Amino acid sequence: MPQDVTLVTGASTGIGAALVRRIARERRNVVLVARTVDRLESLATEMRDAHHVDAQVIPADLTKPGAVRQLVDEVDRRGLAVDWLVNNAGFGTGGRFDQLPVERELEEITLNVTALVELTGRLLPGMVARRRGAVVNVSSLASFLPGPYSATYSATKAFVTSFSEAIATETPASPSSASAPGSPAPSSRRARRSTSRACPRWRGCRPRRSRTRPYGPSVGRRCS
Ligand SMILES: NC(=O)c1ccc[n+]([C@@H]2O[C@H](COP(=O)([O-])OP(=O)(O)OC[C@H]3O[C@@H](n4cnc5c(N)ncnc54)[C@H](OP(=O)(O)O)[C@@H]3O)[C@@H](O)[C@H]2O)c1
Repeated sequence: MPQDVTLVTGASTGIGAALVRRIARERRNVVLVARTVDRLESLATEMRDAHHVDAQVIPADLTKPGAVRQLVDEVDRRGLAVDWLVNNAGFGTGGRFDQLPVERELEEITLNVTALVELTGRLLPGMVARRRGAVVNVSSLASFLPGPYSATYSATKAFVTSFSEAIATETPASPSSASAPGSPAPSSRRARRSTSRACPRWRGCRPRRSRTRPYGPSVGRRCS
């Protein structure tokens, strides 16, 4: 029987590392994904020691062609079943679009959008089949308005929020999907509504609101 794990992308630092610490505290096994292996290994060791969970590291550069497929294959090879997926890896560029190197903009789209969609597409069907699971996509307040001087970043996050709300509405029954706009405190009515309506149709499945916490990532409760 495969072992249930929570897979967190961008787990080596920042919000991803904070989410790993929070999730492992719930005694959930974790798979840590990012490029910087020593940081991932050190966090995994910390989680094993502090919470006695299984914490595994799978290094990946999610902007590389085939990287997501290889990651999912490696998860399968290790006999793991991802029941929570946290799509957190992402970055933002800043400046006038016409003056930015377009290659970096494309990488931003690949990481923030393409990898997130591919991981969700490869892992959500298993959650639906098992009738339990959660997808948490880390978006941003920047998703709610066009962002001059961060045009690509805001557009990628608009995609993340829209995509997350749509699959939260359409996915049947148990598996939950939550969009988690990152912000210190969602202040607009639309932002609040998005955070609280992240998985509206699933019984008992409300993202915990965490408006007072830094960035306010919300984690959908397992609906099983
Ligand atoms: N910080 C904020 O104020 C804020 C606000 C709203 C939303 N957000 C969103 O929250 C998420 C995390 O932000 P953060 O501030 O915690 O960022 P961060 O500190 O820069 O961390 C980004 C994480 O993504 C990983 N990563 C970057 N490029 C990658 C790649 N090509 N392949 C795999 N992993 C990669 C990094 O690890 P490696 O370098 O080791 O690969 C790191 O673990 C992002 O989606 C961001 O857009 C942040």
